[in-house]
Amino acid sequence: MRSSRKMDHVQYALQTGQSGNQGLSDVKLVPNCLPDASTESVALYTTIGELKLSSPIVVNAMTGGADETEAINRELAVAARERGLAMAVGSQMAAIRDPRNESSYKVVRQVNPGGLVFANLGSEANVEQAERAVNMLQADAFQIHLNVMQELIMPEGDRNFHGMLGRIQRIVEALQVPVIVKEVGFGIPRENAAALREAGVQILDVGGSGGTNFAAIENARREVPLSWLNEWGMPTGVTLLEALQVFPKGSVMATGGIRTSEDIVKALVLGASAAGMAGLLLKVLQEEGTAALIERIDELHEGITLMMTALGANRIEELWKRPAVITGSMAQWCAARGID
Ligand code: FNR
Repeated sequence: MRSSRKMDHVQYALQTGQSGNQGLSDVKLVPNCLPDASTESVALYTTIGELKLSSPIVVNAMTGGADETEAINRELAVAARERGLAMAVGSQMAAIRDPRNESSYKVVRQVNPGGLVFANLGSEANVEQAERAVNMLQADAFQIHLNVMQELIMPEGDRNFHGMLGRIQRIVEALQVPVIVKEVGFGIPRENAAALREAGVQILDVGGSGGTNFAAIENARREVPLSWLNEWGMPTGVTLLEALQVFPKGSVMATGGIRTSEDIVKALVLGASAAGMAGLLLKVLQEEGTAALIERIDELHEGITLMMTALGANRIEELWKRPAVITGSMAQWCAARGID
């Protein structure tokens, strides 16, 4: 049951695709005609909290837990290793419940012994489960995913969300590695960001709407879809600005509908340290193969380098100082929420 759900998510994610609006079209970058930079001088390394990444692109959490997912994780890990990207595995609860499922996650560490690997569980996890998930992969960080609306639409999903913050706090206090709290595509508003920061969370991955849509995916799995919920959530650009009201620059990642190097650069200019990508990388891998995925990552890196050169930012932190104009519905949202 759980295993077939893993492949359902992969199949439906490929079908529902990546056509949404993550809000970044409302962000206009201000050009720089006198950039003090060259494509040679630009470097793409970045830091998020204590984590040092050689690229701002993170292969975000997707899968594991079923036989068919092992090959996906292996090939994603090959691409991550070849291009120096950090990579998260999908929720490890399937392996916590049944150790026979461990190999589909462990393959990521086996393929990439020296790379940055993130473990992943939901907010129902306790400290002991979180420690097991980290140890399973010798993970460099632990992601806790928040996905309330996905669970509520999922026919077999959780219905009780009491005590999430307390569990997150206990995990943060107990683990030896940084904890990243992430949404899966509905965004994290600043009120929740403040509570998470208070609980000691070091890194936030805002996971906004506009990319893989887990309301639509779970609705596609339902006999009676709750289609009106397909638009639930905050676009990635908006939730990024919300989170940055509370979390300092250097501690926030942007995920959700990141498709191009321009999307990545816009998220970085807004103050993100890195951009997570899931659905698009999965699609390229499944439809075109590992070599094409590596080629796509190269194109993204080249595009980021080109734009950083044009903006005169030799380092990712310098992008945070570059001006951007917020227009359209994102500007309206910011005005209504007092974000400047
Ligand atoms: C996901 N995502 C996800 N996230 C998580 O924290 N744990 C998980 O197990 C999964 N599972 C999963 C399966 C599949 C098939 C996809 C495509 C995605 C969510 C993912 O990490 C990311 O937050 C969202 O997909 C939004 O990013 P994109 O896909 O729009 O780039």
